[in-house]
Amino acid sequence: MKQAAAITRIVPFGQQLLAEVLAPGDLALDLTAGNGYDLLFLWQAMQGQGRILAFDVQPLALDRSQERLREAGASVIRLCQNEGIGPDEGVYLSLGCHSRLASLVGEAPKVVIANFGFLPGGETSLITRTASSIEALNQALELLALGGRIALTLYPGHEGGDDEAFSVDALFAALPSDRWRVVRFCVANVPHAPFVLVAERVEFGRGKKG
Ligand SMILES: C[S@@+](CC[C@H](N)C(=O)[O-])C[C@H]1O[C@@H](n2cnc3c(N)ncnc32)[C@H](O)[C@@H]1O
Repeated sequence: MKQAAAITRIVPFGQQLLAEVLAPGDLALDLTAGNGYDLLFLWQAMQGQGRILAFDVQPLALDRSQERLREAGASVIRLCQNEGIGPDEGVYLSLGCHSRLASLVGEAPKVVIANFGFLPGGETSLITRTASSIEALNQALELLALGGRIALTLYPGHEGGDDEAFSVDALFAALPSDRWRVVRFCVANVPHAPFVLVAERVEFGRGKKG
């Protein structure tokens, strides 16, 4: 029988929807660098041409991301505190909270990704928090390019994750449908299972047509 990944592996659904709109030369944001898997996916989807800015509050996460991306041939730039993204192609890593993103990015990203929660194999108490997650997402939604997409993975099953997942879900459910298309992927038969939200910014007045 042909081998297939479990259909409940939902993170790739969000990644694929980002890859559909991402082109070489684009700007992408990763709000939670972690172990660098999403970063690597974005970098490969843009064929190693363009810029990605990623945030994490843990130096360990940025070290792991740097190693993974350098192995893939990316130029990795570690930013100083409050230093913004430059014009050179590569992956920019910023140590600190993603809620600073609007002060560091003056351009419209084509895609934004965020995988919330804690660093697998790292400090589990350093989880994303509702207030800063919502703040970062509001800034990302404001900045996103027309035709751009944002994909999120949320974990209602762990402590604190429930409130964050509920609040982010409500934020995305309230996006006006004439300017945003929003979809949600979830495991339908497991309570508190992780879920993915993807929003696409559409031209004003076009949202209801397609
Ligand atoms: C689930 S992991 C991310 C996984 C990652 N995207 C990957 O592909 O490996 C969540 C990450 O969010 C980071 N984090 C927690 N609070 C944060 C904040 N306020 N700003 C930025 N990153 C944060 C954690 O340190 C952790 O590394």
